[in-house]
Amino acid sequence: MTTPADQIIVALDVPTKEKAIGLVAKLRDQISFFKIGLQLYTAEGPEIVRAVLSTGAKVWLDLKLHDIPNTVARAVESASAFGVQMLTIHLSGGSEMIRAATAARTNNILLLGVTVLTSATEQTLREIGIADKVEDQVLRLAKLGVEAGIDGIVASPHEIKKLRAEFGNKIKIVVQGIRPTWAEPGDQKRFMTPRRAIEAGADYIGIGRPITTHPDPSEAVAKILQELAR
Ligand code: C5P
Repeated sequence: MTTPADQIIVALDVPTKEKAIGLVAKLRDQISFFKIGLQLYTAEGPEIVRAVLSTGAKVWLDLKLHDIPNTVARAVESASAFGVQMLTIHLSGGSEMIRAATAARTNNILLLGVTVLTSATEQTLREIGIADKVEDQVLRLAKLGVEAGIDGIVASPHEIKKLRAEFGNKIKIVVQGIRPTWAEPGDQKRFMTPRRAIEAGADYIGIGRPITTHPDPSEAVAKILQELAR
């Protein structure tokens, strides 16, 4: 059975292996899924992935791959070989790239597609020649991904309902931009509380700073779990 704790992924957005391992050690009793993104991976490489996996935790390798189909496929093979549970690619790479990626996955890795980054606005889309609204572009890319065999979509919590209505339970939905009521929003503008995101139908919620910058990260997790259990 899945418990609320199984649905939380803590983003290890820290600069060094020492800090990352310190956080994992503090939280490992409560949390079993961690995200390694570009900052930590660029600094520490495969070693940090192996270190987190060696604690028995699951890893989401958030590398947001976007390159020619062959290069993305070879990177998916390498990530699959690590034994990580999830990996991200940019769906704007197009259907040929997505199909090459899904064909290359092994070891039951879940391949997640990124649609439009939450930092992008309509102005950003105009700059790169896209005349559509952000939400239309999100849905277009999600459809492209699902047709090409993607396992899940990374989304803003505000996109969950539309994605579920369109794809049902065919895909996993992983959301970020999560803020408990007691946390500072930081640069997150369109956030949602953990509880509302789960109620809206997210499979996983990725949370970073509300936990990682809290004076007591373990207490932050405990508060979030309490809210989810209520
Ligand atoms: O904001 P927080 O620290 O909780 O972010 C956790 C993750 O959410 C980050 O690792 C980043 O990938 C993602 N994020 C996002 N949109 C933002 C800021 C962060 O999707 N505006």
